[in-house]
Amino acid sequence: MLDLAARLGAMGAGRVEPNPMVGCVIAREAVESDGAAGEPRIIGLGHHRVFGGPHAEVEALADCRARGQSPRGATAYVTLEPCAHTGKTPPCCDALIEAGVGRVVIARRDPNPLAAGGAARLESAGIRVEFTAVSRSATRLSDPFVKRIRTGLPWVIAKWAQTIDGRIATRTGESQWISGERSRVLVHRLRGRVDAIMTGIGTVLADDPELTARHGVPRRRALRVVIDPQNRLPRTAKVLRTASQELPVLHVRGAGRDEQAGESPGAAPGVSVLRLPLRNELMDLERVLSHLATAHRAGSVLVESGPGLMGGMFRQDLIDEMHVYVGPMIFGDDQALPPVRGIEVEQLVEARRYRLIDARRVGDDVRSVYRRAMPD
Ligand SMILES: NC(=O)c1ccc[n+]([C@@H]2O[C@H](COP(=O)([O-])OP(=O)(O)OC[C@H]3O[C@@H](n4cnc5c(N)ncnc54)[C@H](OP(=O)(O)O)[C@@H]3O)[C@@H](O)[C@H]2O)c1
Repeated sequence: MLDLAARLGAMGAGRVEPNPMVGCVIAREAVESDGAAGEPRIIGLGHHRVFGGPHAEVEALADCRARGQSPRGATAYVTLEPCAHTGKTPPCCDALIEAGVGRVVIARRDPNPLAAGGAARLESAGIRVEFTAVSRSATRLSDPFVKRIRTGLPWVIAKWAQTIDGRIATRTGESQWISGERSRVLVHRLRGRVDAIMTGIGTVLADDPELTARHGVPRRRALRVVIDPQNRLPRTAKVLRTASQELPVLHVRGAGRDEQAGESPGAAPGVSVLRLPLRNELMDLERVLSHLATAHRAGSVLVESGPGLMGGMFRQDLIDEMHVYVGPMIFGDDQALPPVRGIEVEQLVEARRYRLIDARRVGDDVRSVYRRAMPD
């Protein structure tokens, strides 16, 4: 039931943030004629569809009624602890209490001090509450939200396309295209669900990407961010030529000695410049992320860069999730570019480890999704 709730909740990706994605299933435990517990029967499904809209529990309760079913005495399975506060909508716990559900099974405690306390409120109304980690997908659904509440930083997804032998560009910097068209459609869909898309100046100079979501209708318009410490971004770059109020660009560059750090409007409409101090020609990338969260309310950032910036992100341990597309190609050239560089590893125990959370065939490619383990 929680796996199903997680699948429902994920449907809100790109529409509900900065709220959490949440799914809810209401089911009634059947009792066999001999009194034994039978298969639970689903009587209501719901998810948080859009920011400011009804929460998953309220949607699931409405679904019960629409099916002519009473939720009284039934079990609600929810991916995140039902909220106990009045935000854009009234508290979900009150809706569950009023509906008379008998039991609530929850995958993750709400880390938001404003909304927490839902479980206690349900219990004091005589409802049985159980927290469980049985469904990994239900627990993981709230990872981006939990991270943002705990650290103030956005959820950071790194994406790259590589050959079977782990190279993302030839020795001359050619990389278009290692993955197939279907993979690229998925990437465009992902671009249309994040708040910012970040790349390095190396990629802009080599590929001149637009970094926009061009397949289907994007759910949100990402701020395009170019990390360019030495101010090498050409005015003719596609990111700048396509900049507008609707498709803004943030040019992040090093602050000169007599320049103040901070963001200011750039020369063209839709372009702003963020100047940050450099140390050994590099900048503090965590500071960039925290600026994106505070100044641009970014809850999610997609990094689509070459090994230079990617190495910096991994060195500062800023990557939460990776989408790795493997195209059916081998270069066999040790001068070809790897996805990440600049980290020394002598022994396996030193390697950064991630969890594989999904692997699927996409046309002739394989897409693997990895995540770092999050504390509960
Ligand atoms: N297959 C794929 O999925 C894929 C995706 C993207 C790119 N690529 C390929 O990657 C290649 C480009 O690689 P790249 O490493 O040159 O590009 P990059 O990672 O996009 O950009 C590297 C540049 O970013 C800046 N940078 C990196 N770390 C930084 C930090 N901590 N602070 C501040 N600035 C930092 C540096 O600029 P300065 O040198 O000016 O200091 C560095 O040269 C191209 O061939 C492209 O085709 C492949």
